[in-house]
Amino acid sequence: MQILFPYPSVFFFLFLVILQENKISIWSVGDFGSLSSNGEYHSEPHLLCDIQHSGDVMDMQFLDQERIVAASSTGSVTIFRHHQNNQTLSVSQKWENAHFYYQSCGNAPCTGIICNSPEIFTVGEDGRINVFTTDRKEAVRTVDNADSSTLHAVTRLRTTEILTVNSIGQLKIWDFRQQGNEPSQIFSLTGERIPLHCVDRHPSQQHIVATGSQDGMLSIWDVRQGSMPVSLLNAHEAELWEVHFHPSNPDHLFTCSEDGTLWHWDASTDVSERKSYLHTGGRSTTFLPQSVMSAWLSNDPTKDRMEITNLISNPTLSVNSLDVLGSCLVYGTDAESIYVKKNLFA
Ligand SMILES: *[C@@H]1O[C@H](CO)[C@@H](O)[C@H](O)[C@H]1NC(C)=O
Repeated sequence: MQILFPYPSVFFFLFLVILQENKISIWSVGDFGSLSSNGEYHSEPHLLCDIQHSGDVMDMQFLDQERIVAASSTGSVTIFRHHQNNQTLSVSQKWENAHFYYQSCGNAPCTGIICNSPEIFTVGEDGRINVFTTDRKEAVRTVDNADSSTLHAVTRLRTTEILTVNSIGQLKIWDFRQQGNEPSQIFSLTGERIPLHCVDRHPSQQHIVATGSQDGMLSIWDVRQGSMPVSLLNAHEAELWEVHFHPSNPDHLFTCSEDGTLWHWDASTDVSERKSYLHTGGRSTTFLPQSVMSAWLSNDPTKDRMEITNLISNPTLSVNSLDVLGSCLVYGTDAESIYVKKNLFA
């Protein structure tokens, strides 16, 4: 299951259910008038429209206000258009076999998508990166052997740069101004090669990146320096499936896991007392004004400096996907249910 808030800040959202028959669905969660005292949203969301999708939906991104790009386990990438006039979804473009294995010619799941209009970047288990634009039937650029392991997720770093994570604990930066097929930088988790499953970039400080790994660890990276994470935070007890900075309140971060928990990380607590500094070259340190620093890069971003709340009281089934917008959080679980939580900061 993948969950995604819409491109504009309106209150309906998308989700998909992984059943035999996969679908992309658009739901309305109606008006937000009726909240119970604990802030849970109780009014029933209703389905606006849906459309079949071949293969599991591995990732979804909005290209613009009307178009959604979906990654499939069959290796295809499809753009769906949402017609708001008659509440229907249609296929507007599809790239079959965007990801595949050379030797067996079998399809490889497309695991991640990031849109940076007009370009769409896709990554897959075949270790390939594709760049598509809507006006072309073929990929405008392909890096065939971008990774010898499996690529699990992708995010945008700066205008021409993307960042990928793989199954051996590496984070790589790719600069598409350059013609070569090599990453411009490689970062890695120390020690064992633990797969990284997800990645998100800080919305305003582009050098700060968060990743989640197979063993439930949350890592914070500063891509300006070093090749290792700035901090490794013990988080969940099983796979960390998704990590998201809050788009407008980025001292807050959300993670969800196979262990059935959904954590809200609040690094904004005691910011006034925090003595933030930046390591330069590991030995000397440079003090920076608080305003320049991020709470995520403070010298000791350990759990006791941060307020962490589990938002699910009775963890049972895996929480596969989440998204957050304003004071509203949505998440989806293995029970094929979606949940809406309002008043996040109340
Ligand atoms: C819905 O509207 C779009 C264009 O706005 C049109 O192409 C499509 O055929 C319509 N679908 C139905 C089922 O009426």
